[in-house]
Amino acid sequence: MSRLILALDVYDREKAMEIARQTVEYLWAIKVNWPLIIGSGLGIITELKRVTGLPVIADLKLADIPNTNRLIAKKVFEAGADYIITHGFVGRDSVRAVMELGEVIIVVEMSHLGAKEFIQPATDKLIEMANELEPFGVIAPATRPERVAYIRSKLKPGIKVITPGVGAQGGKAGDVLKAGADYIIVGRAIYQSDNPRESARRIYEEVEAWS
Ligand code: XMP
Repeated sequence: MSRLILALDVYDREKAMEIARQTVEYLWAIKVNWPLIIGSGLGIITELKRVTGLPVIADLKLADIPNTNRLIAKKVFEAGADYIITHGFVGRDSVRAVMELGEVIIVVEMSHLGAKEFIQPATDKLIEMANELEPFGVIAPATRPERVAYIRSKLKPGIKVITPGVGAQGGKAGDVLKAGADYIIVGRAIYQSDNPRESARRIYEEVEAWS
């Protein structure tokens, strides 16, 4: 099974469906973020699932009070999302509200520079929360393989480590897989390339070589 997740951050429905069709055989899952949901509506989740048959991850980074998280998650799971990415810093009750409705991936660190300001100092506590709540997985930064290794070493076995930041943000697939990542997320390096299918195939083969 592939360990590559496509971050499909385009607005346009037709474009999204075309890239999904071209790359489907190299993917484990498709990650949908706000740009695609805003551009194409929530129904894009249902359509991507119907056409590709792949799991869909809704990267909403939910960070609200439990009731609002619940109201949002209900509709997103009903649309067909298999996983929702949820922030942990808002507290256990907010995360639990989503987990009561479906599978969750908790952000324990982020891949951009600003993550060092507030998220990274809280990572240990977020890992502690993940170990207690046992979500499907956590998000760790492919841009910092040493942090991926650290997060993996502190996490309960069985909780997946999912890493965005490969490609456009500078992360290397081999480095993060060696550090213990279970899945890598790649967006621009695939959907902005002249040949998304070929780019997905190349990254898939790189991942396979490390598996
Ligand atoms: P690119 O184009 O950089 O896209 O390959 C990466 C995708 O992943 C999201 N992203 C993150 N999501 N924590 C997250 O939960 C992170 O640290 C993080 N870094 C990137 C980004 O929004 C895009 O969809």
